[in-house]
Amino acid sequence: MRLLMQHPGSYISGEELATKLGVSRTAIWKHIRTLKAKGVEIEVAKQGYRLMNMPDLLMESEIRRYLKTRRFGRKLYIHESVASTNDLAKELARSGEEEGSVVIAEEQTHGRGRVGRIWLSPRGGLWFSLILRPNIAPEEAPKITLIFGAGVAKTLRRLYHIDASIKWPNDVLIQEKKVCGILTEVEAELDVLNFLVVGVGINANNTTRDFPEEIRTGATSLIEVLGRKVDRNQLLAELLNEFERSYGILLKSGLRSLLIDWEDLCSTLGKRVRILTPRETIEGEAVKIDEEGALIIKTDSGERKRVIYGECIHLR
Ligand code: BTN
Repeated sequence: MRLLMQHPGSYISGEELATKLGVSRTAIWKHIRTLKAKGVEIEVAKQGYRLMNMPDLLMESEIRRYLKTRRFGRKLYIHESVASTNDLAKELARSGEEEGSVVIAEEQTHGRGRVGRIWLSPRGGLWFSLILRPNIAPEEAPKITLIFGAGVAKTLRRLYHIDASIKWPNDVLIQEKKVCGILTEVEAELDVLNFLVVGVGINANNTTRDFPEEIRTGATSLIEVLGRKVDRNQLLAELLNEFERSYGILLKSGLRSLLIDWEDLCSTLGKRVRILTPRETIEGEAVKIDEEGALIIKTDSGERKRVIYGECIHLR
């Protein structure tokens, strides 16, 4: 595929492909057939093969072109359609899968959001889950979660020059509409964290127009904001590059060294917010994130409340 992409619009013979790749011409033909079945438009003629358009498909070879990590993405499990990449990643992790492996899918049929909500995951989006095995106590897991939202916002800003921001704890918004959600799931036994699965969902080349009304109004996608498709392979690789970098810093130096970056990217601070926790609803001004990743809210009576987990609504 990569070789064909290097010569878009011109023919490359089966023989040349076979020689360059060190495989048989039959193997090349089989691979071309698979690509065609996936919807890649390749013309087959006497002169050889010709790529007719750049396909919007997740491809390992394309992801690896941009990947600069040591561990994250060392193994990539790319699927056409799964129920939920988080479920698959958890199964893999339970059977001993190493840290850094990533499960990706073109579509999810039962994508899961936070607090038991469904997460619509049609084709064109970027849906993936990363397995982590940090040597920390389970209570520290929220800190890990926090850095991934920041990683997404930062990467979107860098790649597409858009004003992406974080809504505490780790939703990513563009113009106050959600473009990315993160679902972190932890498996722990007796105070020992076995593994953590970080599931990231980004509305990329899918539109949110077909989403039900109640989701559509608060959601957006990259194609809607930019007016063009993005290269999802590049986006995934750049996210993994950024995640590995900040994860390394977090484990080595703690959250403190990442908080300045985080505060810069966060649109929650300074806003009036309503926080729904399993126990209570708190309203007030979001004033600070502490070193544990908790949000500090100044209520109208002047009291300072600290929340480590909850659903945040920006009021103004
Ligand atoms: C949220 O509610 O904001 C979290 C959404 C998380 C969605 C992602 S998509 C990849 C992974 N697999 C899932 O089933 N959910 C997460």
